[in-house]
Amino acid sequence: MATTETLSGITIRPMHPEDVEAVAHIENQAYFAPWPKFAFYSSLAQNYPGFVILDQNEIVGYTLITFVAGLAHVINFVIAPSFQHRGLGKCLLKFLLDFLQPQGLKQISLEVAVNNVAAIRLYETFGFNRLGLRKNYYQTALGPMDALILVRNCDYT
Ligand SMILES: CC(C)(COP(=O)(O)OP(=O)(O)OC[C@H]1O[C@@H](n2cnc3c(N)ncnc32)[C@H](O)[C@@H]1OP(=O)(O)O)[C@@H](O)C(=O)NCCC(=O)NCCS
Repeated sequence: MATTETLSGITIRPMHPEDVEAVAHIENQAYFAPWPKFAFYSSLAQNYPGFVILDQNEIVGYTLITFVAGLAHVINFVIAPSFQHRGLGKCLLKFLLDFLQPQGLKQISLEVAVNNVAAIRLYETFGFNRLGLRKNYYQTALGPMDALILVRNCDYT
């Protein structure tokens, strides 16, 4: 897949096993209960589509998805804390939706912590809607946290 230039100095390309060290470093900054490295290696070994977003060749964010019965599920989606609020989340999400568009999917789904205002706003801006709740889905510094299930229908109209 071709590398995509989106914002000035910003590129997005598929995630490779060599990227996992940098990805895991960001994951550790982003989450109270981060994914271990082996989970990333395992996902890539199973050919889950993954992408990294780079600023001047430095990995500053990533996303991984999986396909289940005609649906795409976003497993993780992160921009490194020091690179947030610059439009990179929007850029990566737009790239992901463009990547998924030709795949004939019915829906894209994901979970997001109920107190994650930034992510919920980002996803709702891109047409995700609230489907339900998973109780105590995340471990956070505040204790167990419910997750919203968000879905986006893929009619792309
Ligand atoms: C959610 C996340 C990916 C947003 O990345 P980002 O690069 O900061 O996002 P952008 O700069 O592209 O902003 C996109 C939109 O997100 C929303 N947003 C971002 N930060 C926000 C904040 N602090 N408060 C409210 N909305 C916010 C806004 O709608 C914003 O659009 P706007 O600037 O036009 O208002 C980032 O905060 C992140 O990685 N968080 C930690 C991991 C995470 O929670 N991932 C999602 C799990 S499902």
